[in-house]
Amino acid sequence: MKVVEGLAELREARESLTKPVGLVPTMGTLHEGHLSLVRRAKSECASVGVSIFVNPAQFGPTEDLDAYPMDLERDLDLLAGEGVDLVWTPTAAEMYDSGYQTWVEVEELAQYLEGEIREGHFRGVATVVTKLFNSFQPDRAYFGQKDAQQSIVIRRMVEDLNFPIEVIVCPTVREADGLAMSSRNSYLSPEERRAAPVLYRALLAASQLFSTGEREADRLRAEMETVLATEPRARPEYASVADPATLEEQHGPIEQALLSMAVFVGKTRLIDNLMVGDK
Ligand code: PAJ
Repeated sequence: MKVVEGLAELREARESLTKPVGLVPTMGTLHEGHLSLVRRAKSECASVGVSIFVNPAQFGPTEDLDAYPMDLERDLDLLAGEGVDLVWTPTAAEMYDSGYQTWVEVEELAQYLEGEIREGHFRGVATVVTKLFNSFQPDRAYFGQKDAQQSIVIRRMVEDLNFPIEVIVCPTVREADGLAMSSRNSYLSPEERRAAPVLYRALLAASQLFSTGEREADRLRAEMETVLATEPRARPEYASVADPATLEEQHGPIEQALLSMAVFVGKTRLIDNLMVGDK
């Protein structure tokens, strides 16, 4: 496994990779969720690259950029164990030099849900993913359903900007008790960790209501809110029933929906989602 830092080295190393090349963009502190993307890429591509970059542009001024967990050595061991060919660990100074001024904005899809609360977040994500795509030039790129809106925004961007890249979205990997794996779970105290599966329980409750025939978006949202309210350590920011194509909040009857939520458990902000009525 080759590990490179500079853009010039990356470009040179990329030349010798056999096509099709799969890319898994990450911010490191890898867990089974990330590794599931790597395994999927390995199974579908002749070569696999992984980028590890904690992208300052997608963190708001009051967010956890400085506290974001990092363990490069452990990450590299895990990736070597998965048979990854190339790892790129760019520096912030090279990604965004002092004169940096070009941004990618996906307009409407980035306005809802996470975008409404985390201002500028998706501009940071779309910009860095564009830079990763332009630098790495993968044939396929792998993202997780865990960050549903991110995958939707990136698909739109790839379509709009004519990237010759296939976007593949892989299922959310969960702990045994349903908590979606996330680097941020490491912030949770033992009591908060015990409380955190309430997100998945709330999503499942609404999804079960949908399976028994409930189609009213407002009732599905209320079901999630009721379950979240049973956990005193959980402070919901939103619980949403959105159109999976436009991400607009739904009221009336629905055929299909993206159920999603952001919930503070202590000081840690967790997100999760589930699709209902998926074809
Ligand atoms: P990061 O949070 O490190 O996640 C990297 C990829 O792993 C994303 O596509 C994310 O959706 C996926 N992922 C995270 N947890 C997962 C889980 N439990 N199951 C399945 N997939 C999971 O998302 C980012 O980094 C950044 O925004 C990035 C795309 C790298 C741009 O900076």
